[in-house]
Parts: sequence; C-alpha cells; structure tokens
Amino acid sequence: MNIIIVKDYDEVSRKAADLIIEQIKQKPSSVLGLATGSTPVGTYKTLTNALKKKEVDFSDITTFNLDEYYPIDREHDQSYWYFMHTNLFHHINIREGRKNILNGKAEDVDQECKDYEAAIKKIGGIDLQLLGIGNNGHIAFNEPGSSFTSRTRLVDLDESTIQANSRFFSSKDKVPGKALSMGLGTIMEAKKIILLATSEKKAKAVRLSIEGPQSEDVPASVLQKHTNCTFIIDQAAASLLKK
Ligand code: PGA
Repeated sequence: MNIIIVKDYDEVSRKAADLIIEQIKQKPSSVLGLATGSTPVGTYKTLTNALKKKEVDFSDITTFNLDEYYPIDREHDQSYWYFMHTNLFHHINIREGRKNILNGKAEDVDQECKDYEAAIKKIGGIDLQLLGIGNNGHIAFNEPGSSFTSRTRLVDLDESTIQANSRFFSSKDKVPGKALSMGLGTIMEAKKIILLATSEKKAKAVRLSIEGPQSEDVPASVLQKHTNCTFIIDQAAASLLKK
C-alpha cells in the first residue's frame, strides 16, 4: 500500500485529480471506477477545471460507479445517478453510453448485478478505481461483515451508514435502507486503486484499514492485499497512524 499524506482536503483533491489525469493521458480509453460522497466532490471539480484548461480529454473514457441506493429514482436529488451528473458528467466531455451506474429501480436486481459484472469484464476490467471510506471502514456499500470475495449485489446499509448519510436527506427515515453495490471481490480486481480520506472522522477507519489486521469487520482492510493501492489522506485522517 502506498500512503500519501497531504495537508488538507484541497490537496487531497488536487493529488487525486493529478493521478486520474495521468491515467487518462497514459491510456485515453481508460475505464474508471468512480465514487460518490462528500470526499470526491473536490476531485471532480478539479477534473472539471482541468478540462476547461485543456489539460485532459474525457472523450474516450468509460466509467462504472461503485453503488446506488435501492430503491431510488435516478431523478431523486440524492440518487448517485443525480450526484454523478451534477458533480461531474454534466461538466465533462464523456460520451453518452459510457457512464455505467447501477439502476436503483431495477426490477430484477440479481440480473442487474450480473449484467454490471459482465459489462466490467467485457470491457477488460477497471483500470483505476477511486474510493472513499466510511467512518465504519466500508468501501462502496460493503459494510462490516461483507465477504472479501463478495460481488455486485443488493446489500443492507448499516445503521451507522444510514445515520451518517441522513445529513443529505430531510430525515433519517428517508434514507433508503438498501443499496446495490460492487463487491469487495469486484473492487479488488481493479488494476489500480486510489482511496481518499479526509478529516478526523475517518482517522480510526484509516488506521484500522492500514495498520489493523485484515478483517471483514473492517472492509477497507482487504486493500492491504492489493498490489497497486494508494491512500491519499489529509493530516487529520492520518492522525491515528502509528508509523
Ligand atoms: P463521504 O462518504 O465521502 O461522504 O465521507 C464516504 C463513504 O461513506 O464511503
């Protein structure tokens, strides 16, 4: 695991955007795995600005998002479809048909998940996967207890995740209790992984993921086994690291 510790949120965003731009320059047809949440918003803004300055071209990339609430309409202002379009896709020159997001209204959930896995496989896998991390150590919606070999599936959200995400909804009972999520096994097949974490709220999950034993109680600890994984974290999120 590579650990990059920078000063603050803005520096995390800059560094993450730089690595994504470098990836796209090396391989314009890169397949990117994308994340939602507060953490990557600054990265997406930085990428949008880079396009304006003609430092990057997104016209040949394909993206797969990690997860989506279930059930949720894509037009709902808290759907991850909506998040991705307002924070990134509306501002960059990605082509129609190249943005893959799990359907939060799929009638046949098992088929939706199988098709998603098949689409990732068909394109040759994910070149670069961007991740956030939950206060409880989750990555995507793989909550504590998720199998390290899990695949894309319907999951129940942890009470702590519902509580954390209720800040975006009018009330806690409006947070969907389930989601469709890539599995830990799916994520581990990405060729490169970048995990972003900022603020002291993430310090414990960061420490357990990097320095703790590998355990399904801390889903992000699966990343210790990945051969090309970089954590980009600010000083507050790094504050509990021993080494
Ligand atoms: P956050 O969420 O970026 O909003 O902190 C991260 C996550 O829950 O994975």
